[in-house]
Amino acid sequence: MSFTVAIDGPAAAGKGTISKAVATHFGFAHLDTGLLYRAVGRRTLEGVDALEAAQALTAEELEQGDLRTAEIAQAASKVAVLPEVRAALVDFQRAFSRRAGGAVLDGRDIGTVICPDAEVKLFVTASAEVRAERRFLELSAKGADVTREQVLADVRERDARDAERSTAPMKPAEDAVQLDTTDLSIEAALAKAVEVINVKLPATR
Ligand code: CDP
Repeated sequence: MSFTVAIDGPAAAGKGTISKAVATHFGFAHLDTGLLYRAVGRRTLEGVDALEAAQALTAEELEQGDLRTAEIAQAASKVAVLPEVRAALVDFQRAFSRRAGGAVLDGRDIGTVICPDAEVKLFVTASAEVRAERRFLELSAKGADVTREQVLADVRERDARDAERSTAPMKPAEDAVQLDTTDLSIEAALAKAVEVINVKLPATR
């Protein structure tokens, strides 16, 4: 029996942390779909054509090296604008979402395009400043040479590109529950997500 949780939202809103915690809590599989775009973005930085990279993408590539750098994030949002790149990544994501035992997918268009029938849809947000601060701390902890100003500018640039593109723009699905984490601890955000999922779960099991 499949049960899909779609978690969308802008850069560094806490989607990843919430998704992982939700997956652990319910025993669901988790796919960070941003990694697909990041892996394709990384290949373009190496000179490979974006569509070729998307068509040849393997699960192993998602595990190789550090995809969560500022440079790769920008490259990811540039390839993510291309409709044919997005199309090449659809089947993998949909197959993952139908896994027996439940699946959590986080990204930008999961509730709107990839899994419009997801049992639960969350749209996780936070102010740009709070998101940039979280990402700054995350990148600095890994030793990356970044400033708060740079990270905020990067986050804003990516959000604008993600929200304004014509194919699968980042936006909340009409039936998504909005979760603003600006003033919420991770524990509080997770508790809210678990509450929303618990309401839907019994009906399908
Ligand atoms: O972790 P963060 O929120 O900063 O980014 P990410 O989820 O790893 O996504 C990186 C980039 O991939 C985003 O800025 C989007 O341009 C793109 N993306 C997308 O277009 N659709 C998705 N489902 C996931 C990511």
